[in-house]
Amino acid sequence: MIKLDKVSKKFGTGDFGLIDINLSVDKKEFVFLVGPTGSGKTTIFRLLIREILPSEGTVIVNDWDLTRLPKHQVSHLRKKIGVVFQDLKLLFDRTVFENVVMPLEVTGVKMEEARQKVEEVLTQVGIIEHKDKFPIQLSGGELQRTAIARALALSPEILLADEPTGNLDSATSWEIVKLLSDINEEGTTVIMATHNVDIVKNLSKRVIGLEKGKLVRDDKKKDNK
Ligand SMILES: Nc1ncnc2c1ncn2[C@@H]1O[C@H](COP(=O)(O)OP(=O)(O)O)[C@@H](O)[C@H]1O
Ligand SMILES: [Mg+2]
Repeated sequence: MIKLDKVSKKFGTGDFGLIDINLSVDKKEFVFLVGPTGSGKTTIFRLLIREILPSEGTVIVNDWDLTRLPKHQVSHLRKKIGVVFQDLKLLFDRTVFENVVMPLEVTGVKMEEARQKVEEVLTQVGIIEHKDKFPIQLSGGELQRTAIARALALSPEILLADEPTGNLDSATSWEIVKLLSDINEEGTTVIMATHNVDIVKNLSKRVIGLEKGKLVRDDKKKDNK
């Protein structure tokens, strides 16, 4: 469960990233977070992984109040949340396999178990045949799938995808949305940030809309499944 209660975020520059946001997302929901560039989508994601703290209000993930979470607990939180960053953050001198195995290595998972898990997630996202390629050898959609696979490596309860279709043509964008929807069907809570209103228009998923840091829309009543 995710809950933002009266959350505002004012940056050191004096700019407001978010203003008085109230929202909650249940376990296993699929939510589109929509809004133009600069509306606050990435700021919400950064709050959810406790990369930043709110200036006001509380952020709750599962039963953790992130405004009170001790530093040493942050790694536990991050294991539960997979993030696909807008700029992907893939390492270009490592293969697909090596990129995706990294979170497992960092958390000390044994090599054989890690290898199995990587093969499982690469199969799930449809790029197992590319596992030994380097990022430069992949298409935009395949790069996005690699970043999604890496975000799934630790079997997170929540997946945050920040503009995952930003650089893709429309056919590939739909494939990525379908993949995220399938991941959600398997039981993962998914929040996908996008400024592409066409993507959300034709799908009966919950849509949370932001504009200039304010929540302007929440179609909670829509059938979410
Ligand atoms: N580190 C920061 N310092 C100052 N202002 C920021 C910072 N991060 C975001 N902002 C501002 O907060 C607003 C929301 O940004 P962001 O969450 O990145 O929007 P989005 O992801 O929807 O494009 C913007 O006005 C942006 O300029
Ligand atoms: Mg953003």
